[in-house]
Amino acid sequence: MNKASLVVLISGSGSNLQAIIEAINSKQLNAEIKAVISNQVSAKGLDHAASEGITTHVIDHKLYPSRALFDQAMMQIIDPLKPDLVILAGFMRILGDEFIAHYQHRLINIHPSLLPKYKGLNTHQKAIDNKDQIHGASVHYVGHELDSGPVVIQTEVPVQTIDSAETLAARVLIEEHKIYPMAIKMHIDGRIKFKGKQLQLDDQALTKPLLWKNDQLT
Ligand code: GAR
Repeated sequence: MNKASLVVLISGSGSNLQAIIEAINSKQLNAEIKAVISNQVSAKGLDHAASEGITTHVIDHKLYPSRALFDQAMMQIIDPLKPDLVILAGFMRILGDEFIAHYQHRLINIHPSLLPKYKGLNTHQKAIDNKDQIHGASVHYVGHELDSGPVVIQTEVPVQTIDSAETLAARVLIEEHKIYPMAIKMHIDGRIKFKGKQLQLDDQALTKPLLWKNDQLT
């Protein structure tokens, strides 16, 4: 079977990108990353990608007078690569409606909360402040509102009383690295797809997200 083409957008350390690269290298994912694009020149993930021989691009959002022009600059790089999936992996810019519509049903994101809880930033601190016992992360197709769109997989991470935002983030990240390659695999294997607006898994409506908990998917 042909390898799926992926484009990954990052802004920072790129540990999720690294997990995706490892899943490809270990043949869990039958895919090739055609390009990594960062809006931050200093993103560490760019070094990981380059050391794997992956083409990298920096598109500095500060150099563009509008969000639409920044998005278009990314689209000009992405479209010739004909990706099966555009993957947001710690990409910290809000994308415009045109970009989101253009990649509808092939634009996926990972967010460090149990969506719809805690959209936006500082999710770990919010979970601690609200005395949540369970926190986690969600992989979702990207909708037009911030951190919206159908959720494919979530992972639950217990909050400990001694947790700081940093210790909690670190434990959530470990689980992110498991569920993101899983969701990408389901997409590229054609197990997860849209029928109209309905998200389906193995041709059945996925009415609630899959849950990764205690090292099992249910
Ligand atoms: C991850 O925790 C990811 O869920 C989050 O940023 C981190 C990136 O880490 N993304 C968002 O908050 C997007 N709204 P990484 O660069 O090491 O993959």
